[in-house]
Amino acid sequence: MENKISEIVGAAREAISNAADPVALDAARVRFLGKKGELTAILKGMGKLTPDERKAVGQAANDARAVIEQALGKKLDELRAAELERRLQEEVLDVTMPGKQRPIGHRHPLEQVLDEVKEIFLGMGFDVVSGPEVELDYYNFEALNIPKDHPARDTQDTFYISDNVVLRTQTSPVQIRTMEQRKPPIRIIAPGKVYRSDAVDATHSPVFHQIEGMVIDKGVTMADLKGTLDAFAKRMYGEQTVTRFRPHHFPFTEPSAEMDFRCFACEGKGCRLCKNEGWIEILGCGMIHPAVLKNGGIDPEVYSGFAFGIGLERVAMRRFEIDDLRLLFENDLRFLGQL
Ligand code: DAH
Repeated sequence: MENKISEIVGAAREAISNAADPVALDAARVRFLGKKGELTAILKGMGKLTPDERKAVGQAANDARAVIEQALGKKLDELRAAELERRLQEEVLDVTMPGKQRPIGHRHPLEQVLDEVKEIFLGMGFDVVSGPEVELDYYNFEALNIPKDHPARDTQDTFYISDNVVLRTQTSPVQIRTMEQRKPPIRIIAPGKVYRSDAVDATHSPVFHQIEGMVIDKGVTMADLKGTLDAFAKRMYGEQTVTRFRPHHFPFTEPSAEMDFRCFACEGKGCRLCKNEGWIEILGCGMIHPAVLKNGGIDPEVYSGFAFGIGLERVAMRRFEIDDLRLLFENDLRFLGQL
């Protein structure tokens, strides 16, 4: 019996020392010390022994268990240390290695130009406000003095959501919404997206951006309009910039005008940039029509005001000297990276 025990201890030692990982080691533990293990079987068979034998065998079996347990524990420590060592070797971190270069983006050209325009008007005491892109027919047209039969309401230009709801075709509806919410003096600009059912080409896009502007107070005149917009053009394009106002027609202003600035490339002589005109159109403007003030709840007998609408894409195209609007929307990083 005692021989058998020392055989078991020998076999256990060998199995333990051969175990390559904790799983194999546990298998060895089960094989010798488990419920159906080899040493356990000896202890279970002790009932057949005489009391003296039982004592000696019991002692030997307990000693053997202690020896095997100790060997298991020692081996487990070794395996864990080896595993740790392996991971430390494998997972070295070279803190001197150069980091990965991530490309740094920058603001889209339209955002850059919008920021400049905002900066200029904020400096002149304007607030920046916004309105909805899905707009009521009333605000987009009716309240702006654009009656049902006006050509601007042609379904060719306007995306209708329903009879009364459109995608705004201009930022001008923000004029009425602002009048409804604020009391004069009012000085706001309202940048945002506008939508028109146009096919895409070098100068057209079904979605583009405008910046609406509006000033209302007692005694506001055309001179204020001209002074403000001339100052804007000079800040935007340089102090030497020359502007002119041409009579025009908009339903919501009276009188109405378009502002041009003298071509900076040819100084008015005519070139490719200004299409031989010598002047480049930049915005529409005018004195707010009394009917429009009334629609906004403002008494035209007491207050007057001017308004203007700037096409952001045009400003950006001039600023970056690009002649195709699509470049601003296709988001080709090779192109955008240059601006
Ligand atoms: N809403 C006009 C358009 O989309 C632009 C415009 C012209 C706005 C004159 C104005 C303005 O506020 O006074 O063509």
